[in-house]
Amino acid sequence: MTTTTAGADARDEPRRGPADSPFVRACRREPGPHTPVWFMRQAGRSLPEYREIRANVAMLESCRRPDLVTEITLQPVRRHGVDAAILFSDIVVPVAAAGVELDIVPGTGPVVAEPIRTAADVDRIRPIDVTDVSYVDEAVRLLVAELGDTPLIGFAGAPFTLASYLVEGGPSRTHAKTKALMYGDPDLWHALCDRLADVTLAFLRVQADAGVSAVQLFDSWAGALSAADYRRFVLPHSTRVLTGLADTGLPRIHFGVGTAELLGAMGEAGADVVGVDWRTPLDVATGRIGPDRAVQGNLDPCVLLAPWPVVEAEVRRILDQGRAAPGHVFNLGHGVLPETDPEVLTRVVALVHEVSTRPAG
Ligand code: CP3
Repeated sequence: MTTTTAGADARDEPRRGPADSPFVRACRREPGPHTPVWFMRQAGRSLPEYREIRANVAMLESCRRPDLVTEITLQPVRRHGVDAAILFSDIVVPVAAAGVELDIVPGTGPVVAEPIRTAADVDRIRPIDVTDVSYVDEAVRLLVAELGDTPLIGFAGAPFTLASYLVEGGPSRTHAKTKALMYGDPDLWHALCDRLADVTLAFLRVQADAGVSAVQLFDSWAGALSAADYRRFVLPHSTRVLTGLADTGLPRIHFGVGTAELLGAMGEAGADVVGVDWRTPLDVATGRIGPDRAVQGNLDPCVLLAPWPVVEAEVRRILDQGRAAPGHVFNLGHGVLPETDPEVLTRVVALVHEVSTRPAG
Protein backbone atom coordinates (compact mmCIF):
# COMPACT_ATOMS: atom_id res chain seq x y z
CA MET A 1 0.00 0.00 0.00
CA THR A 2 2.29 2.78 -1.08
CA THR A 3 1.51 5.94 -2.92
CA THR A 4 2.37 5.88 -6.58
CA THR A 5 4.47 8.78 -7.82
CA ALA A 6 2.17 11.06 -9.78
CA GLY A 7 3.25 11.48 -13.39
CA ALA A 8 6.06 8.91 -13.11
CA ASP A 9 4.95 7.32 -16.32
CA ALA A 10 2.69 8.99 -18.86
CA ARG A 11 1.19 5.59 -19.80
CA ASP A 12 0.05 4.99 -16.23
CA GLU A 13 -3.64 5.31 -15.44
CA PRO A 14 -4.20 8.83 -14.11
CA ARG A 15 -4.28 8.76 -10.32
CA ARG A 16 -7.76 9.71 -9.19
CA GLY A 17 -7.44 9.44 -5.44
CA PRO A 18 -9.76 8.05 -2.78
CA ALA A 19 -12.58 10.52 -3.59
CA ASP A 20 -13.09 8.60 -6.85
CA SER A 21 -12.72 5.11 -5.32
CA PRO A 22 -15.41 2.41 -5.71
CA PHE A 23 -16.23 2.85 -1.99
CA VAL A 24 -16.84 6.61 -2.12
CA ARG A 25 -18.72 6.26 -5.42
CA ALA A 26 -21.10 3.68 -3.93
CA CYS A 27 -21.66 5.93 -0.88
CA ARG A 28 -22.62 8.72 -3.29
CA ARG A 29 -24.91 6.36 -5.24
CA GLU A 30 -22.73 6.70 -8.34
CA PRO A 31 -21.92 3.72 -10.57
CA GLY A 32 -18.50 2.15 -10.06
CA PRO A 33 -16.38 -0.72 -11.38
CA HIS A 34 -17.54 -3.15 -8.67
CA THR A 35 -19.38 -3.30 -5.35
CA PRO A 36 -16.92 -2.14 -2.67
CA VAL A 37 -16.37 -4.25 0.45
CA TRP A 38 -14.88 -3.67 3.90
CA PHE A 39 -15.61 -5.25 7.28
CA MET A 40 -16.49 -3.64 10.57
CA ARG A 41 -13.76 -4.68 13.06
CA GLN A 42 -11.55 -5.77 10.16
CA ALA A 43 -8.57 -4.52 12.20
CA GLY A 44 -8.58 -6.77 15.22
CA ARG A 45 -8.36 -10.12 16.83
CA SER A 46 -9.12 -12.30 13.83
CA LEU A 47 -5.63 -11.39 12.53
CA PRO A 48 -2.51 -13.09 13.97
CA GLU A 49 -0.44 -10.04 13.02
CA TYR A 50 -2.79 -7.89 15.14
CA ARG A 51 -2.56 -10.22 18.15
CA GLU A 52 1.21 -10.14 17.85
CA ILE A 53 1.53 -6.36 17.73
CA ARG A 54 -0.96 -5.96 20.62
CA ALA A 55 0.63 -8.68 22.81
CA ASN A 56 2.08 -6.28 25.39
CA VAL A 57 0.16 -3.08 24.69
CA ALA A 58 -3.15 -2.17 26.37
CA MET A 59 -6.05 -1.31 24.05
CA LEU A 60 -6.31 2.40 24.95
CA GLU A 61 -2.55 2.84 24.78
CA SER A 62 -2.49 1.29 21.30
CA CYS A 63 -5.18 3.79 20.19
CA ARG A 64 -2.92 6.65 21.36
CA ARG A 65 0.21 5.56 19.47
CA PRO A 66 0.11 6.81 15.87
CA ASP A 67 2.72 4.23 14.76
CA LEU A 68 0.59 1.35 16.08
CA VAL A 69 -2.69 2.86 14.84
CA THR A 70 -1.19 3.17 11.37
CA GLU A 71 0.19 -0.37 11.28
CA ILE A 72 -3.00 -2.00 12.67
CA THR A 73 -5.24 -0.01 10.31
CA LEU A 74 -3.15 -1.11 7.31
CA GLN A 75 -3.02 -4.81 8.24
CA PRO A 76 -6.45 -5.81 6.83
CA VAL A 77 -5.94 -3.64 3.74
CA ARG A 78 -2.71 -5.46 2.90
CA ARG A 79 -4.06 -8.89 3.73
CA HIS A 80 -7.58 -8.81 2.27
CA GLY A 81 -7.49 -6.08 -0.39
CA VAL A 82 -10.60 -4.44 1.09
CA ASP A 83 -11.89 -1.28 -0.61
CA ALA A 84 -11.55 0.90 2.49
CA ALA A 85 -9.52 1.13 5.67
CA ILE A 86 -11.15 2.05 8.99
CA LEU A 87 -9.15 3.97 11.55
CA PHE A 88 -8.05 1.73 14.42
CA SER A 89 -9.49 3.34 17.55
CA ASP A 90 -12.49 2.82 19.81
CA ILE A 91 -15.72 4.71 20.42
CA VAL A 92 -14.63 5.57 23.99
CA VAL A 93 -11.33 7.23 22.94
CA PRO A 94 -12.87 10.75 22.62
CA VAL A 95 -14.78 10.48 25.93
CA ALA A 96 -11.56 9.47 27.67
CA ALA A 97 -9.93 12.52 26.05
CA ALA A 98 -12.86 14.61 27.38
CA GLY A 99 -11.92 13.68 30.95
CA VAL A 100 -14.00 10.57 31.70
CA GLU A 101 -11.91 7.98 33.54
CA LEU A 102 -12.30 4.62 31.82
CA ASP A 103 -10.53 1.55 30.53
CA ILE A 104 -11.15 -1.03 27.81
CA VAL A 105 -11.06 -4.41 29.52
CA PRO A 106 -10.15 -7.41 27.33
CA GLY A 107 -13.18 -9.66 26.78
CA THR A 108 -15.54 -7.12 28.40
CA GLY A 109 -15.25 -3.78 26.63
CA PRO A 110 -15.30 -0.23 27.99
CA VAL A 111 -15.56 0.09 31.80
CA VAL A 112 -16.15 3.53 33.36
CA ALA A 113 -14.70 4.23 36.82
CA GLU A 114 -17.53 6.53 37.99
CA PRO A 115 -20.69 6.19 35.90
CA ILE A 116 -22.48 9.37 34.81
CA ARG A 117 -25.81 9.78 36.66
CA THR A 118 -26.15 13.48 37.70
CA ALA A 119 -25.82 16.98 36.23
CA ALA A 120 -22.48 17.35 38.04
CA ASP A 121 -21.32 14.13 36.34
CA VAL A 122 -22.31 15.53 32.93
CA ASP A 123 -20.17 18.60 33.67
CA ARG A 124 -17.16 16.33 34.04
CA ILE A 125 -17.34 15.73 30.26
CA ARG A 126 -15.23 18.58 28.84
CA PRO A 127 -15.34 19.83 25.24
CA ILE A 128 -12.41 18.53 23.17
CA ASP A 129 -10.32 19.94 20.34
CA VAL A 130 -7.45 18.67 18.22
CA THR A 131 -4.91 19.13 21.04
CA ASP A 132 -6.78 16.55 23.16
CA VAL A 133 -6.55 13.91 20.41
CA SER A 134 -3.40 14.94 18.55
CA TYR A 135 -2.48 11.24 18.20
CA VAL A 136 -5.60 10.72 16.06
CA ASP A 137 -4.77 13.75 13.90
CA GLU A 138 -1.25 12.40 13.39
CA ALA A 139 -2.36 8.82 12.71
CA VAL A 140 -4.90 9.91 10.08
CA ARG A 141 -2.28 12.04 8.31
CA LEU A 142 0.21 9.14 8.29
CA LEU A 143 -2.47 6.78 7.01
CA VAL A 144 -3.71 9.04 4.23
CA ALA A 145 -0.11 9.26 2.96
CA GLU A 146 0.34 5.46 3.11
CA LEU A 147 -3.03 4.47 1.68
CA GLY A 148 -2.79 6.24 -1.68
CA ASP A 149 -6.05 5.63 -3.54
CA THR A 150 -7.60 3.51 -0.78
CA PRO A 151 -10.07 5.59 1.25
CA LEU A 152 -9.82 5.85 5.03
CA ILE A 153 -13.04 5.79 7.06
CA GLY A 154 -13.08 7.84 10.24
CA PHE A 155 -15.62 7.03 12.94
CA ALA A 156 -17.16 7.89 16.27
CA GLY A 157 -19.81 6.50 18.61
CA ALA A 158 -23.24 8.15 18.49
CA PRO A 159 -24.61 9.89 21.60
CA PHE A 160 -26.99 7.04 22.63
CA THR A 161 -24.39 4.27 22.44
CA LEU A 162 -21.80 6.40 24.24
CA ALA A 163 -24.37 7.40 26.88
CA SER A 164 -25.16 3.74 27.48
CA TYR A 165 -21.52 2.94 28.35
CA LEU A 166 -21.21 6.07 30.52
CA VAL A 167 -24.48 5.60 32.44
CA GLU A 168 -24.24 1.82 32.86
CA GLY A 169 -20.52 1.96 33.65
CA GLY A 170 -19.89 -0.83 31.14
CA PRO A 171 -21.56 -3.05 28.55
CA SER A 172 -25.21 -3.86 29.26
CA ARG A 173 -27.74 -6.28 27.81
CA THR A 174 -30.87 -4.33 28.82
CA HIS A 175 -29.56 -0.73 28.99
CA ALA A 176 -31.81 -0.49 32.08
CA LYS A 177 -29.99 2.34 33.90
CA THR A 178 -29.68 4.29 30.65
CA LYS A 179 -33.40 4.00 29.93
CA ALA A 180 -34.29 4.78 33.56
CA LEU A 181 -32.40 8.06 33.25
CA MET A 182 -33.89 8.78 29.82
CA TYR A 183 -37.50 8.24 30.97
CA GLY A 184 -37.03 9.54 34.52
CA ASP A 185 -35.11 12.75 33.83
CA PRO A 186 -35.45 13.77 30.18
CA ASP A 187 -33.76 17.14 30.79
CA LEU A 188 -30.65 15.50 32.20
CA TRP A 189 -30.75 12.93 29.39
CA HIS A 190 -30.81 15.63 26.73
CA ALA A 191 -28.04 17.57 28.53
CA LEU A 192 -25.86 14.43 28.52
CA CYS A 193 -26.53 13.68 24.85
CA ASP A 194 -25.91 17.30 23.95
CA ARG A 195 -22.51 17.17 25.58
CA LEU A 196 -21.71 13.84 23.89
CA ALA A 197 -22.81 15.21 20.51
CA ASP A 198 -20.31 18.07 20.97
CA VAL A 199 -17.49 15.63 21.75
CA THR A 200 -18.42 13.35 18.84
CA LEU A 201 -18.69 16.19 16.39
CA ALA A 202 -15.33 17.62 17.46
CA PHE A 203 -13.72 14.16 17.19
CA LEU A 204 -15.08 13.62 13.68
CA ARG A 205 -13.96 17.13 12.65
CA VAL A 206 -10.40 16.33 13.69
CA GLN A 207 -10.52 13.25 11.45
CA ALA A 208 -12.14 15.17 8.57
CA ASP A 209 -9.52 17.95 8.79
CA ALA A 210 -6.73 15.35 8.81
CA GLY A 211 -8.02 13.82 5.57
CA VAL A 212 -10.40 10.87 6.04
CA SER A 213 -12.56 10.10 2.98
CA ALA A 214 -15.78 9.21 4.83
CA VAL A 215 -17.09 8.90 8.38
CA GLN A 216 -19.20 6.29 10.13
CA LEU A 217 -21.34 7.09 13.16
CA PHE A 218 -21.79 3.89 15.20
CA ASP A 219 -25.05 3.79 17.15
CA SER A 220 -24.57 0.11 17.86
CA TRP A 221 -27.16 -0.19 20.63
CA ALA A 222 -29.92 2.08 19.21
CA GLY A 223 -31.93 -1.06 18.37
CA ALA A 224 -32.80 -1.31 22.08
CA LEU A 225 -35.30 1.55 21.57
CA SER A 226 -38.78 1.78 20.05
CA ALA A 227 -39.10 4.02 17.01
CA ALA A 228 -41.06 6.60 19.06
CA ASP A 229 -38.42 6.75 21.80
CA TYR A 230 -35.62 6.80 19.23
CA ARG A 231 -37.21 9.83 17.55
CA ARG A 232 -37.74 11.65 20.84
CA PHE A 233 -34.55 10.86 22.75
CA VAL A 234 -31.86 10.06 20.18
CA LEU A 235 -32.59 11.31 16.67
CA PRO A 236 -32.11 15.06 17.44
CA HIS A 237 -28.62 14.43 18.82
CA SER A 238 -27.43 12.09 16.05
CA THR A 239 -28.89 14.55 13.54
CA ARG A 240 -26.82 17.37 15.03
CA VAL A 241 -23.65 15.29 14.60
CA LEU A 242 -24.36 14.17 11.02
CA THR A 243 -25.71 17.48 9.71
CA GLY A 244 -22.84 19.25 11.51
CA LEU A 245 -20.49 17.55 9.06
CA ALA A 246 -22.44 18.43 5.90
CA ASP A 247 -19.98 21.20 4.98
CA THR A 248 -17.11 18.67 4.77
CA GLY A 249 -18.78 17.04 1.74
CA LEU A 250 -17.68 13.64 3.07
CA PRO A 251 -20.03 10.65 2.82
CA ARG A 252 -21.59 9.86 6.21
CA ILE A 253 -22.54 6.30 7.19
CA HIS A 254 -24.93 5.66 10.08
CA PHE A 255 -24.98 2.18 11.60
CA GLY A 256 -26.78 0.29 14.35
CA VAL A 257 -27.72 -3.29 15.27
CA GLY A 258 -31.31 -4.55 15.62
CA THR A 259 -32.58 -1.40 13.90
CA ALA A 260 -35.17 -2.90 11.51
CA GLU A 261 -37.85 -0.59 12.96
CA LEU A 262 -35.51 2.43 12.97
CA LEU A 263 -34.01 2.32 9.47
CA GLY A 264 -36.17 5.14 8.10
CA ALA A 265 -35.48 7.40 11.10
CA MET A 266 -31.75 6.65 11.03
CA GLY A 267 -31.66 7.71 7.39
CA GLU A 268 -33.44 10.97 8.29
CA ALA A 269 -30.61 11.85 10.69
CA GLY A 270 -28.56 13.06 7.73
CA ALA A 271 -26.61 9.99 6.62
CA ASP A 272 -25.72 9.25 3.00
CA VAL A 273 -25.47 5.52 3.77
CA VAL A 274 -27.44 3.48 6.31
CA GLY A 275 -25.83 0.37 7.79
CA VAL A 276 -28.16 -2.64 8.01
CA ASP A 277 -27.70 -5.73 10.19
CA TRP A 278 -28.40 -9.27 8.97
CA ARG A 279 -32.00 -9.34 10.19
CA THR A 280 -33.39 -7.16 7.38
CA PRO A 281 -32.80 -8.11 3.71
CA LEU A 282 -31.23 -5.18 1.83
CA ASP A 283 -34.15 -4.84 -0.62
CA VAL A 284 -36.59 -4.59 2.30
CA ALA A 285 -34.24 -2.15 4.06
CA THR A 286 -34.10 0.02 0.94
CA GLY A 287 -37.90 0.14 0.92
CA ARG A 288 -37.77 1.55 4.45
CA ILE A 289 -34.87 3.95 3.93
CA GLY A 290 -35.95 5.31 0.54
CA PRO A 291 -34.16 5.95 -2.76
CA ASP A 292 -32.01 8.85 -1.52
CA ARG A 293 -29.58 6.78 0.51
CA ALA A 294 -27.18 3.94 -0.12
CA VAL A 295 -27.06 0.87 2.16
CA GLN A 296 -24.18 -0.96 3.80
CA GLY A 297 -24.23 -4.59 4.94
CA ASN A 298 -25.28 -7.17 5.77
CA LEU A 299 -23.71 -10.64 6.06
CA ASP A 300 -24.26 -12.26 9.46
CA PRO A 301 -20.72 -12.43 10.95
CA CYS A 302 -21.54 -15.97 12.17
CA VAL A 303 -21.96 -17.15 8.56
CA LEU A 304 -18.18 -16.71 8.16
CA LEU A 305 -17.77 -19.65 10.55
CA ALA A 306 -19.79 -21.96 8.23
CA PRO A 307 -18.38 -24.06 5.32
CA TRP A 308 -17.41 -22.03 2.22
CA PRO A 309 -20.40 -23.05 0.02
CA VAL A 310 -22.72 -21.53 2.67
CA VAL A 311 -20.65 -18.33 2.78
CA GLU A 312 -20.64 -18.10 -1.00
CA ALA A 313 -24.42 -18.56 -1.29
CA GLU A 314 -25.02 -15.86 1.33
CA VAL A 315 -22.61 -13.39 -0.31
CA ARG A 316 -24.38 -13.91 -3.66
CA ARG A 317 -27.81 -13.46 -2.07
CA ILE A 318 -26.75 -10.20 -0.41
CA LEU A 319 -25.22 -8.82 -3.62
CA ASP A 320 -28.46 -9.70 -5.39
CA GLN A 321 -30.68 -7.99 -2.82
CA GLY A 322 -28.27 -5.02 -2.69
CA ARG A 323 -29.05 -4.31 -6.35
CA ALA A 324 -32.41 -2.94 -5.20
CA ALA A 325 -30.54 -0.11 -3.43
CA PRO A 326 -29.28 3.02 -5.20
CA GLY A 327 -25.80 2.23 -3.84
CA HIS A 328 -24.42 -0.78 -1.93
CA VAL A 329 -21.31 -1.09 0.21
CA PHE A 330 -20.80 -4.76 1.10
CA ASN A 331 -20.06 -5.36 4.80
CA LEU A 332 -21.08 -7.59 7.66
CA GLY A 333 -24.20 -6.89 9.72
CA HIS A 334 -21.90 -6.28 12.72
CA GLY A 335 -18.20 -6.69 13.51
CA VAL A 336 -15.87 -9.57 12.61
CA LEU A 337 -15.84 -12.18 15.39
CA PRO A 338 -12.37 -12.90 16.82
CA GLU A 339 -12.62 -16.62 15.93
CA THR A 340 -13.10 -15.89 12.19
CA ASP A 341 -10.57 -17.49 9.83
CA PRO A 342 -8.97 -14.48 8.08
CA GLU A 343 -8.63 -16.51 4.88
CA VAL A 344 -12.41 -16.63 4.61
CA LEU A 345 -12.50 -12.81 4.77
CA THR A 346 -9.96 -12.63 1.93
CA ARG A 347 -12.09 -15.03 -0.14
CA VAL A 348 -15.22 -12.97 0.51
CA VAL A 349 -13.48 -9.82 -0.80
CA ALA A 350 -12.43 -11.66 -3.97
CA LEU A 351 -15.92 -13.10 -4.45
CA VAL A 352 -17.68 -9.75 -3.98
CA HIS A 353 -15.36 -8.17 -6.55
CA GLU A 354 -15.72 -11.04 -9.03
CA VAL A 355 -19.50 -11.31 -8.85
CA SER A 356 -20.11 -7.55 -8.97
CA THR A 357 -17.59 -6.46 -11.60
CA ARG A 358 -19.30 -4.41 -14.29
CA PRO A 359 -17.89 -4.11 -17.79
CA ALA A 360 -16.01 -0.83 -18.32
CA GLY A 361 -17.61 1.92 -20.38
O1 CP3 B 1 -13.70 -1.70 12.79
C1 CP3 B 1 -12.46 -1.64 12.99
O2 CP3 B 1 -11.67 -2.50 12.55
C2 CP3 B 1 -11.87 -0.41 13.68
C3 CP3 B 1 -11.65 -0.55 15.07
C4 CP3 B 1 -12.79 -0.46 16.08
C5 CP3 B 1 -12.65 -0.95 17.39
N1 CP3 B 1 -13.74 -0.59 18.10
C6 CP3 B 1 -11.48 -1.65 17.90
C7 CP3 B 1 -11.63 -2.52 19.08
C8 CP3 B 1 -14.04 0.14 16.00
C9 CP3 B 1 -14.73 0.79 14.80
C10 CP3 B 1 -14.63 0.06 17.29
C11 CP3 B 1 -15.94 0.66 17.63
C12 CP3 B 1 -16.64 0.20 18.83
N2 CP3 B 1 -16.14 -0.03 20.08
C13 CP3 B 1 -18.03 0.00 18.89
C14 CP3 B 1 -18.98 0.21 17.74
C15 CP3 B 1 -18.95 -0.94 16.83
C16 CP3 B 1 -19.63 -2.16 17.38
O3 CP3 B 1 -18.92 -3.16 17.58
O4 CP3 B 1 -20.84 -2.12 17.58
C17 CP3 B 1 -18.36 -0.39 20.19
C18 CP3 B 1 -19.74 -0.74 20.71
C19 CP3 B 1 -17.15 -0.40 20.94
C20 CP3 B 1 -16.98 -0.71 22.38
C21 CP3 B 1 -16.09 -1.90 22.53
N3 CP3 B 1 -14.72 -1.82 22.46
C22 CP3 B 1 -16.45 -3.27 22.68
C23 CP3 B 1 -17.87 -3.80 22.81
C24 CP3 B 1 -15.25 -4.01 22.68
C25 CP3 B 1 -15.07 -5.51 22.69
C26 CP3 B 1 -14.76 -6.07 24.03
C27 CP3 B 1 -14.01 -7.38 23.85
O5 CP3 B 1 -12.81 -7.39 24.16
O6 CP3 B 1 -14.61 -8.34 23.37
C28 CP3 B 1 -14.18 -3.07 22.56
C29 CP3 B 1 -12.74 -3.36 22.50
C30 CP3 B 1 -12.17 -3.30 21.11
N4 CP3 B 1 -12.34 -2.27 20.25
C31 CP3 B 1 -11.32 -4.26 20.54
C32 CP3 B 1 -10.97 -3.77 19.27
C33 CP3 B 1 -10.05 -4.40 18.25
C34 CP3 B 1 -10.86 -5.54 21.19
C35 CP3 B 1 -9.80 -5.19 22.21
C36 CP3 B 1 -8.54 -5.98 22.05
O7 CP3 B 1 -8.13 -6.33 20.91
O8 CP3 B 1 -7.90 -6.20 23.10
